[in-house]
Amino acid sequence: MTYRTTAFTMVGEEHVTMVPSPPGQRWAAEVNGQQVEVLAPSNAVLLDVLRDKVGTLGVKRGCDLGTCGCCAVMIDGQPVLSCLTLAGQVEGAAITTVEGLSDGAHLAPIQTCFATHGGSQCGFCTPGFLISSQALLNENPEPSREEIAVAIEGNLCRCTGYQQIIDAVEAAAALQRGEVETSPASSPHPDPHPVGPEEPTMPPGHAK
Ligand code: FES
Ligand code: FES
Repeated sequence: MTYRTTAFTMVGEEHVTMVPSPPGQRWAAEVNGQQVEVLAPSNAVLLDVLRDKVGTLGVKRGCDLGTCGCCAVMIDGQPVLSCLTLAGQVEGAAITTVEGLSDGAHLAPIQTCFATHGGSQCGFCTPGFLISSQALLNENPEPSREEIAVAIEGNLCRCTGYQQIIDAVEAAAALQRGEVETSPASSPHPDPHPVGPEEPTMPPGHAK
């Protein structure tokens, strides 16, 4: 296959060759239990294919560098960072995104417990946490708090302070084991970002 290499762009005095994308080719996999087939360049990153071609927008682009965990998906049951995975590497695999955790309109225990235990605030990191947590619970139905912390160490959250997330995973494990029928909210944790006396109290939009 030959690609055109005749396009140029100017950077200072240098001519930099623009490398055109390879043409789209058939890519197929099972995404959330459905067979999907899309056209994607051979060098496409899984995160881009899932968001732009398959339409599973629950997969979030955070850092694009493998450091935040927002883009985590399960590949054949194992948590994987989709921003660091070429789609071609996982052709034909069973891929689970956050959309695939629920049973139709019924949330999975891990999703319910994140909601009831305050494991999600702005929510941007939540899909990645849910995937990492569910992958843990699939392999270890009764994890210790330390094991939960290890399982989510690749996921970053700027909002919650992590304790609520660990509570939520613990509660989801109990719910999945059938030890409880519902997941009552845990007792409130201290605000991870308390407003101190010196901090501004102006409403949003009025800060100087
Ligand atoms: S977007 Fe993949 S780890 Fe941050
Ligand atoms: S809930 Fe906002 S970054 Fe985690």
